[in-house]
Amino acid sequence: MTLHRREALELLLGAGALVALGGCRSDASDSAGSLSSALSSPEATAPEVVSLEAEVRDLKLSLWAEASVATIAAGLTSDVYSFGAKVIEGDPGSITPGPSYLGPTIHLRPGQRVQISFENRLEDESIVHWHGLVVPQDQDGQPADSVDPGETYDYDFVVDNDPGTYWYHPHPHAKTGEQVYRGLAGMLLIHGDEPDLPSGANDLSLVLQDRTIGADGQLQYVGNMRDQMAGFVGSTLVTNGVADLVTMVNPEPYRLRILNGANSRTSYLTLSTGDPITAIAVDGHLLPEARTIPGLVITPAQRTDLWIDFSNYEAGQRIELLSANTFNEAGNMMGGGMGGGGELSLDPQTAMTFVVSDAPSSKGELPASLGRPVDFGLDDAINPTEPKEFVLTTRRGSHWINDLQWEGRKSSEPEQVKAGTIEVWDFVGQSPLAHPMHVHGKSFSVIGRTWDDESAADSWAQISDGIIDDGLRDTVLVWPGQRVRIAVPIADHLGYFLYHCHILEHEDDGMMRNFNVSA
Ligand code: C2O
Ligand code: CU
Ligand code: CU
Repeated sequence: MTLHRREALELLLGAGALVALGGCRSDASDSAGSLSSALSSPEATAPEVVSLEAEVRDLKLSLWAEASVATIAAGLTSDVYSFGAKVIEGDPGSITPGPSYLGPTIHLRPGQRVQISFENRLEDESIVHWHGLVVPQDQDGQPADSVDPGETYDYDFVVDNDPGTYWYHPHPHAKTGEQVYRGLAGMLLIHGDEPDLPSGANDLSLVLQDRTIGADGQLQYVGNMRDQMAGFVGSTLVTNGVADLVTMVNPEPYRLRILNGANSRTSYLTLSTGDPITAIAVDGHLLPEARTIPGLVITPAQRTDLWIDFSNYEAGQRIELLSANTFNEAGNMMGGGMGGGGELSLDPQTAMTFVVSDAPSSKGELPASLGRPVDFGLDDAINPTEPKEFVLTTRRGSHWINDLQWEGRKSSEPEQVKAGTIEVWDFVGQSPLAHPMHVHGKSFSVIGRTWDDESAADSWAQISDGIIDDGLRDTVLVWPGQRVRIAVPIADHLGYFLYHCHILEHEDDGMMRNFNVSA
């Protein structure tokens, strides 16, 4: 079966699709143009291929955040915020345009010195955090370093991370949720020695978000107490900045770098074909070996790289990426007692659709071994038998960590840590809501999960086959009643570093603290 032009037209128009992969920007002004060029050549849907220079040069960028407009839902124009960037010195391939309102993708290499001058062109304070990067305190983009409108913040750091999938977003206190929701987020990819994986046009970034879009096209945010309290969940799924994304793929293997860039929604992802999902990397680190799972749980801020061979499908076939919200809409999460006890409805919606082209197909092999195994564990920790406890609770309409909330650069006793050590921490879920907990600095390893209270064990059982606890993570889901034990390597950078819930409304409400690294 071949994909005829008329079918392509139906696919695109029927779904209200806009092409939204890196390098194919669809703005209000040229959506007609990109639609017709997509129709006359299916390859128009391929992203701009990243061609980095062989020689790694240091990089100087200017980056700004500003008000802009984008077409998120077909036919409507939305006011958004957007990052823009320009290479001042170094490889011009170091930035590639982001789709829709998303910021440019920043391409870095291990060992590279990176200088970024961030200019705040918003009417509100802001600062940029490089999520997952191991950098000194003053390079981390923390709330305390927020700059006022019209001001700049100058970054200068050396890339000290594995090749992989990272992202950047604002981090001003109490305003992160709104700024990310309005559009401030971008991918940050570190390129370097990796096993033989699909690259170039077969390496796609997919940013999963949700938005509530009014009839006037405007983005609606936090309308009531419940949104603020539970976390904001938008009614429309948006992938790479557009609703109903349809993208053409060739019948070949692909690497899909999936970022959950949503404010609150933790998704359970499946494929409409019913085929299992093959994960190769999480949170910027290749897994030691691929994991094949029936569905994938991905929390806000988590990244999972998938490997998928579209040569298993026929030309013209539509493969939908389905996303079910794991947030318990039944209301019992907000009721008395331990939440999450009800059944999750897990009604999937289409996050985006792949359409297989009629190009000649070629099969590919997934390398048997991918990343390094995690080389530290409990035995390497300074407190192997006495984990520090970080108890997550919800009361008086707020979320707390050890009965504390945001206090700026101030740390309690358990938050004092020593550079270069490994600590065992327990995140203890005593809140009726699930919380994806993120730790700045080095990634941690998940040692295990146990139950302090099993009343939410049934809802957990509905999604637990999609949880990836192997490899190294920077964000981990803590289900109600659960105790999640992690081994946290403390980097050598001294000072205050954040850990917080990555439900942005919880973070903004104060479910964010600093740990203090001393020598
Ligand atoms: Cu993605 Cu402290 O953040
Ligand atoms: Cu972070
Ligand atoms: Cu939370």
